[in-house]
Amino acid sequence: MTRIAVVGCGYVGGVSAACFAELGHSVECIDINTERIALYRTGKSPIHEPGLEELLARGISSGRLTFRDCYPEFIDAEIVFIAVNTPGSSEGAADLRAVRDAVTSVAARLAPGSIIVNKSTVPIGTGDLVEGMARRVNAERISVVSNPEFLREGSAVADFMRPDRIVLGSNDPSAVERVARLYSSLEAPVVQVDIRTAEMIKYASNAFLATKISFINEIAAICEALGADVTEVARGMGMDDRIGPRFLAAGLGWGGSCFPKDVRALSHMASVHGTHPQLLRSVIDINNGQRLRVVGRLRNALDGLDSKRILILGAAFKSDTDDIRNSPALELANLLALEGASVAIADPVVSRIRIEQESTSVNVVDSVTEGLSGAHAVVLATDWPEYLAFDFASARTSMALPVFFDARNAMDGDRLNASGFTYMCIGRPASEATVPQVAMTPAVYALAGGS
Ligand code: UDX
Ligand code: UDX
Repeated sequence: MTRIAVVGCGYVGGVSAACFAELGHSVECIDINTERIALYRTGKSPIHEPGLEELLARGISSGRLTFRDCYPEFIDAEIVFIAVNTPGSSEGAADLRAVRDAVTSVAARLAPGSIIVNKSTVPIGTGDLVEGMARRVNAERISVVSNPEFLREGSAVADFMRPDRIVLGSNDPSAVERVARLYSSLEAPVVQVDIRTAEMIKYASNAFLATKISFINEIAAICEALGADVTEVARGMGMDDRIGPRFLAAGLGWGGSCFPKDVRALSHMASVHGTHPQLLRSVIDINNGQRLRVVGRLRNALDGLDSKRILILGAAFKSDTDDIRNSPALELANLLALEGASVAIADPVVSRIRIEQESTSVNVVDSVTEGLSGAHAVVLATDWPEYLAFDFASARTSMALPVFFDARNAMDGDRLNASGFTYMCIGRPASEATVPQVAMTPAVYALAGGS
């Protein structure tokens, strides 16, 4: 058992702390967000993460997991993880203010021989900066290790407990050994490198996954033009073990708190250091274009978006999370509203308040049925299971027009077509090119509420 502290208990730090406690370590969580800490203390998780509350309950009842909303006089942990947020600034550089604050506060309170571990995604070279900061604040020897996380929101507990690898970067081999021991019961391979290489592994991994998604989204656009089915293309590609089947789902493109921030930060780092990240720039452009392509196709299908009523199903950036940071669903909703559409949005987990804080151009509805009534189109933007199982056929006649845009290729298009919908999707022949258009005859237009 090792005494650990985790500073920054959000989607990454909160899960890491609970999992370390589950592995038998004593973990003190420190976060300046008093509401978050107060909630954690009750065993409730401030974030929607499957399996986390069970771990919190065990950690708290065993006494291995404690929470504070301020720094103690002295941190008696041997190893302190920094998992504070590192948001992107306007031009893409990662904002390190939270990391600086956390390292300065922690370094002053540590015993000689302690270790500071960067878990947050930080620009390449930050570990060296942290080492210098720690030395300035505390003359005693404090080692620094980079230990990037590879946790997907919605499966973070599973990803922590079954990692493909543990990446550890440091100038101090004994520090690497001590941090590696924390994970020893997970029996995962340890990749031991220098700090900068560890930091780059994180960025390069996220950038590659984002590249894979932008690649399949570009292939989807070509499939649409040439009449191929991108989901079958992905299936055929994925059987090649050099490619693999995962992260080849065409859709609205990638969002969340990591890919957008990390790909832009890597591109920015490359640019300011004199290299030209053409591929990363294209990966970003393709992704931004994905939402615009959906807007264009809806505009054509509805003969213009002004005054059209559109229901967006899902606000979270993907299913199984309540995170709406850089959500493609919300970006799509805002783009549709910009063209005069009246946009309703529903999500089974994200609260009305969170959505309204993030977007003033949508009307949050409490049910799919409410949102479908009078709608000219419905868009599946987040593949929540509740939506995949919903009986849309029974609510079709309440819609003004039966246009269903499956922006996640997650629905049974034939079934929706058979129920009288005009089924649209991404990169498949069942798009509007082959499905009979809803002819905008005057009678249909009048039905649709047109003047
Ligand atoms: C964060 C980083 O954003 C991400 O780049 C990195 O890979 C992992 O850590 P996340 O956990 O999603 O991701 O951030 P967030 O959910 O915002 O949690 C950060 C926490 O740090 C917040 O609870 C915030 O209150 C806390 N914090 C921030 C501190 O405790 N102290 C600070 O000085 C700043
Ligand atoms: C990602 C990385 O996967 C994880 O390793 C890292 O630590 C943090 O960033 P996360 O952002 O939680 O995790 O979600 P992920 O499951 O990777 O999805 C990212 C985005 O890509 C989502 O918007 C998702 O909808 C989208 N996506 C994912 C696709 O569009 N197609 C796919 O095939 C997979």
